[in-house]
Amino acid sequence: MQRTLFVTTALPYANGSLHLGHIMEYIQADIWVRSMRMSGHKVYFIGADDAHGAPIMLKAEAEGISPRELTTRYSLERPLYLNGFYVDFDYWHSTDSEENKELAIEIYKHLKENNLIELRSINQFYDPVKKMFLADRYIKGECPKCHSKDQYGDSCESCGSTYKPTELINPYSSLTKATPVFKSSEHLFFKLSSKECVDFLIEWTTSKNKQGKKKLQDQVFSKIQEWLGSDPSNVNLNDWDISRDAPYFGIEIPDFPKKYFYVWLDAPIGYLASMKAFCKKSNIDFDEILDPNNNVEQIHFIGKDIIYFHALFWPAMLKFSGRKTPDEINVHGFITVNGEKMSKSRGTGISPLLYLELGLNPEWLRYYLSSKLNSKIEDIDFTIDDFIRKINSDLIGKYINIASRTCQLIAKYLGGKLNYYEKEKELSQELYLRTEIVRKNLEDREYSRAIKEIMSYADYTNQCFDNEKPWEIAKKIEDTNCSYYKKLQFICSCTLARFKALSIMLSPILPKTSKKISIDLFGMKKDFDWADIQELPLTINKFEHLMQRAEKEQLIKLFENTQSTIENMDHKQENPSINIEDFMKIDLRVAKITKCEEVKNSEKLLQLTLDIGNNEPSKNVFSGIKSSYKPEELVGKLTIFVANLKPRKMRFGISEGMILAASNKEETDNKKIYLIEPDSGAFPGMKVS
Ligand code: MSP
Ligand code: ZN
Repeated sequence: MQRTLFVTTALPYANGSLHLGHIMEYIQADIWVRSMRMSGHKVYFIGADDAHGAPIMLKAEAEGISPRELTTRYSLERPLYLNGFYVDFDYWHSTDSEENKELAIEIYKHLKENNLIELRSINQFYDPVKKMFLADRYIKGECPKCHSKDQYGDSCESCGSTYKPTELINPYSSLTKATPVFKSSEHLFFKLSSKECVDFLIEWTTSKNKQGKKKLQDQVFSKIQEWLGSDPSNVNLNDWDISRDAPYFGIEIPDFPKKYFYVWLDAPIGYLASMKAFCKKSNIDFDEILDPNNNVEQIHFIGKDIIYFHALFWPAMLKFSGRKTPDEINVHGFITVNGEKMSKSRGTGISPLLYLELGLNPEWLRYYLSSKLNSKIEDIDFTIDDFIRKINSDLIGKYINIASRTCQLIAKYLGGKLNYYEKEKELSQELYLRTEIVRKNLEDREYSRAIKEIMSYADYTNQCFDNEKPWEIAKKIEDTNCSYYKKLQFICSCTLARFKALSIMLSPILPKTSKKISIDLFGMKKDFDWADIQELPLTINKFEHLMQRAEKEQLIKLFENTQSTIENMDHKQENPSINIEDFMKIDLRVAKITKCEEVKNSEKLLQLTLDIGNNEPSKNVFSGIKSSYKPEELVGKLTIFVANLKPRKMRFGISEGMILAASNKEETDNKKIYLIEPDSGAFPGMKVS
């Protein structure tokens, strides 16, 4: 039965470039979509930018541009990423659009008609300088438990306790440093805790979808259970504040002057808005596709941090505005790099654009992520050695090499012709069974299991080939009718048929390579479908090289350079002027370089040992100055050391601070780095101020 699927990925905030986490989500969804299309299902694959909210407004303001100018900047670069990694959305729109405004207002009106919207007065912190109400994250102060200074409004990074912003001691606005005042304001609440909502959510979360399957993964379901409570008497849901006061960048609420929809109200509606815009462009009836009574399945791919919004608010909003509710929420974990969370401030994270710029193959990343993704909410870690091993030993060594070895023999001895000598049925059965397992695993989002199956079949294919020693048989061939010829043709044909099956299995993951194989090698007129497994190949065209091995140097560059790119980005965002107290926080000292060595596997770094005087233990520092200095030139020199920088764990060890150097920030020819040296007479341990 042909299914019709409306598939989305979470809408990224349009105040920054896409990072590896986004790309992972798109690749996961794209592979699933491609696999479903290969089964003949109709899929609408839809994305968009999430362009509203306070952070976007404030960032634009800080840059002196309008929010729309800011979001346009990022929306313009989206295609570089999406095309770059072969992510094949049908449409990409924005929540800052006419369609979204109309739909948001319509849905709000329906919720109101259903008595699920309530007006309430609430007290909130207000920044009297900035003249705006402050979300918790913009309030800082002293932790009420451990008295650490400068903690956020909802939790303390120092002792881990959580609290209300009103409990902070000496609260201040992180935007202006002003002391916030308590002020009341009228807000609209969506009555999520009402009986009808809770009853619906219990029904929605526990009932099966159109495929007779669970809508939520087990881990998601149990989380939701905590919020919904085990029985109706202990529901943990709060009503949801869906409005924000001006100034705000968002959709104005009709009949409620100076109030806007909270960004999380209109964000998921963006899924519908993007679909609507796509329908308009493609002459498809939007209302018919999203009719709650038809069989179209609505499926959302999201990360684990936004479950609450997608598995509670969103289905309830849809239900009580008379719309189709989601059939599946597919939640994935987070990607980490070398075991570290991706965070701009901590300077880790891999830039997807840099990945492409360095000439790394996008299909490697698709394959690598597939080999780690499953249907659970597990985090996955990206490391260089693991990546290299998976690409070079598995993907290239086991799979790609099958074709190069076999095709050579077929071209040289068999004139490109294949023959199965009446074993077609047996072989077809084998190919079908193997492919089915993989198809099924992909459909269940068990990608790593699919890859395991593919690799074990590739192993089997190679073994069968090697066992027959075809290169020895080839030497004995006298004519096309002799038994050696037939034997060689049979072995090569079976191997190549298996290679074709493997290529079909991998085609959702490696769309470009598999296209090359179907069209160039097998002379087909189209991309592979699952059904193509039924046809054994009878001829092949000339074999052309399919895929390069991954070089470790490329990855080292990726892992190193990303850090500096992101650090530079952060600097741009910050306010450049600081006061003297800020400056005095930096503990600068004269230090003597007593030892200096190159760092293996690093293009940029030197490892330095520093004498910082005062009988203190010497310090270990990694510094990115290798391009300008040889280790032996540095030993004995004095320089300036930042002594109170948080030690930082790097791939090579712990860096206990940094030394100061000058360089030209502009990308000109002059990229030399100049170490800062004190005038003669200074000695280790002297304070610099
Ligand atoms: N704008 C909201 C989503 C609105 S959906 C109606 C948002 N944006 S986001 O840019 O912060 O995140 C977009 C998606 O990327 C989310 O699904 C999020 O879980 C995912 N990821 C963010 N960091 C991630 C990783 N480190 N790893 C994997 N996915 C991650 O939330
Ligand atoms: Zn604390």
